[in-house]
Amino acid sequence: MTAKEQTLKLLQENKDKYISGNIIALRLGVTRACIWKAIKSLQNEGYIIDAVTNKGYSLQDDNDIITSQSIIPLLRTHDLGRNIEVFAELDSTNAYAKIKAVTIDSHGSVIIANEQTNGKGRLGRSFYSPKNTGIYMSVILKDKLSTLRVEQSLLITSAVAVAVTRAIQKVIGVKPQIKWVNDIYIEGKKVCGILTEASINFETGKFDYIVVGIGINVATQDFPQNICERATSLSQFVDKKNLRSKIIAAILNFLEPIIDNIENKDFIDEYKKKSLVLNRDIVIIKGGTKTLAHVEGIDDNCCLIVKTADQKLHTLNSGEVSVRLKD
Ligand code: BTN
Repeated sequence: MTAKEQTLKLLQENKDKYISGNIIALRLGVTRACIWKAIKSLQNEGYIIDAVTNKGYSLQDDNDIITSQSIIPLLRTHDLGRNIEVFAELDSTNAYAKIKAVTIDSHGSVIIANEQTNGKGRLGRSFYSPKNTGIYMSVILKDKLSTLRVEQSLLITSAVAVAVTRAIQKVIGVKPQIKWVNDIYIEGKKVCGILTEASINFETGKFDYIVVGIGINVATQDFPQNICERATSLSQFVDKKNLRSKIIAAILNFLEPIIDNIENKDFIDEYKKKSLVLNRDIVIIKGGTKTLAHVEGIDDNCCLIVKTADQKLHTLNSGEVSVRLKD
């Protein structure tokens, strides 16, 4: 065991008590500087450790640490999440997962970061990913992809959206809605974004792999000014703590059967019921252009069917398009 692991073990064994850096150092046979470094590193990983002069360190109860051990016992999956890597910090879990997806074969591997320094959103936007307060995860999908045509990629994002809404409802008890195509909303504010990226094999015209990135604001506060009016966190709706591992496991548990049977498209009815935009007026934003439209339906590939002012029907595939509800 490293000094950090031993320090954590000692703090866990002495929960609710303060234990001085000196005593930890003596017990471990290392210097106090080494203990100080271990404590800082644990705090960086998200452990809430109270430090009081002349008393020492105490591990607090409201730690919401994500580890593979905090998730795997909650899983009912056969593939998804059976291989989990958790990082204190990554630039982007999707960026890391895409590198990984080239070299590994295991379908369902999950990459999680406690913080992202360059979290990516759709259409080149960024995703605010501060330390310890959110879920930033990517799932690598490799099986079942031969049944999907590239133009059906929207189905995957929509399937993930349904799995995320079910997971949030199960763990915290509120009913989220889906704003086409990749945003999860609660009470009119965004709580989660999904970014699906893929590698396509030009010879076969099929996917080599798909990486599904999910970002959820769990206890995030103090959003940057440009999103603070539109973003919210799960902690606004629930008083429970230590939710992140439960939500991650629930997402994977709900997602696996949907992906395994993606060709049945059974989840689309639920997607429609949870849609925030169906039968509403929206603004379609493509490049710099804004167009008013009414949402008439959602088709079998989760494309949006809209009617514009000239009464023409259009089918929107996610591509470069984003939509806003008309005020
Ligand atoms: C969006 O809102 O446009 C999509 C946001 C997707 C964010 C997640 S967080 C985990 C994964 N890694 C990233 O860099 N982005 C996705």
